[in-house]
Amino acid sequence: MTLARLELRHPSGSTPILVGAGALAQVGDLAPFIDGRRAFVVTSTAVSTLQWHALEPLLERAGHYEVLEVPDGEEAKRLSVFEDLCRRMALAGGKRDSLVVGFGGGTVGDLAGFAAATFLRGIDFLLAPTTLLAQVDAAIGGKTGVNLPEAKNSVGAFHHPLVVVSDTRLLQTLPVAELRSGLVEIIKIAALANPDLLTDVERDFGRLLGADASVLARVVEQAAAAKIEIVESDPTEKGRRKLLNLGHTLGHALEAACAYRELRHGEAVGYGLLFVLRLAESRGLPRSDAGRLRGLLERLRLPALPPLAAGDLVERICRDKKVSENGVTWVLPARIGEARLVDDLPLDEVRAELETFLGDDRPGRP
Ligand code: GLY
Repeated sequence: MTLARLELRHPSGSTPILVGAGALAQVGDLAPFIDGRRAFVVTSTAVSTLQWHALEPLLERAGHYEVLEVPDGEEAKRLSVFEDLCRRMALAGGKRDSLVVGFGGGTVGDLAGFAAATFLRGIDFLLAPTTLLAQVDAAIGGKTGVNLPEAKNSVGAFHHPLVVVSDTRLLQTLPVAELRSGLVEIIKIAALANPDLLTDVERDFGRLLGADASVLARVVEQAAAAKIEIVESDPTEKGRRKLLNLGHTLGHALEAACAYRELRHGEAVGYGLLFVLRLAESRGLPRSDAGRLRGLLERLRLPALPPLAAGDLVERICRDKKVSENGVTWVLPARIGEARLVDDLPLDEVRAELETFLGDDRPGRP
C-alpha cells in the first residue's frame, strides 16, 4: 500500500509524517538515522503485547535497543514516571546520540517526547503513534510534557520528533471507545479548518467507527494535513495555533474533575465542543452549522457525565495552563471551517450556561 508523506516545517527543521496501513514496515529507508543507534523504546505493556511485531522492522536497524515500559493513559504523565524513565535511560547507558522511540498513544508519546527533550539537555526521538487520537493530533506539532497534580500538561517543552510514523493498520485493534475519542479530534479539526473533511466524516461515520482501513488512512491524512497547516503558521502557539484548543477549555476541566479516569481525552473534548456550540450560537454561529456539529457529536454517543458542579469546573478552567493574565481565551466556532478566539466572555455567563448544560438537557444523560 502506498504511504502518504506529509511534512511539518518548524523552527528546528522539518519532520516527515508518514501515514498509511503498514507504514512501520516500509519506513526503514526513510529513517536512516536509526542505523546503529542505541534506542530506548518507551511503550506501555498493552501496546507492546498487542503491537510489538509492527515495530520490529524499524528496530532491526538500531544497534541496540531497550524496552522501557510505562503505564498507559494519564498515569504515564506523572512526574514520578518521567523521573523513573530518565533514570532508567541513564542506568542503561543513554548518551547524547541515543534515540527515544515513543510507541503508544498520546500520553506515552508526550512522556517519551519530554524525556527526549530534557535527557542530557535534549536527544533525538521518533514517534510511532498507535491510537487514532495520537495519529491525528498528539503526535503532530512538537508538544511534549507531563502533568502536575494541579494542572494537565503544565510541565513541558516544544521538541519535534525526527519522524512520525502513523501506521493506520495499528488502529484496527482499537476498542470502539478509543476510535470515538480520536474521532472527536477529527471532528474538531474539520470544524475549524476543513469543511470537506467534516462532510467525509458524516458520510463515512459508520466505517470509521468500524475501523475500516481505507477510510481511516484517508481521514488520518486529511486531519494531519489540516493540523500541520495551522502548526506551521504558529509553531509555539502565540496566536492561531490556539484555535486547536477548540473544545479543550471545558474538556481539560472535565478530565481533571473526573481525576483523568472516567473520561478519555477525546470524550471530554466532545463535551467541550458541545458546550462551546451553545456559547457560539449566541455570538453568530449559524444555527444550521451548530446543528450539524451537534448532530455528529451526538452520533458518537459519548458516555454519560458523572454529577459535576458548574462552580468547580469554572475554577478548574481558570487554573488551566492556557489561561493568561488577561483571563480565559475561548475558542468558538464561527461557522463550519472557521473558529475564532474570544477572551471577553464573562465568567458569570459561562457559569450559568454550564449549569444548564450539566442539567436536564445534558447530552449523554442516561
Ligand atoms: N493539541 C493541540 C496542539 O497541538 O496545539
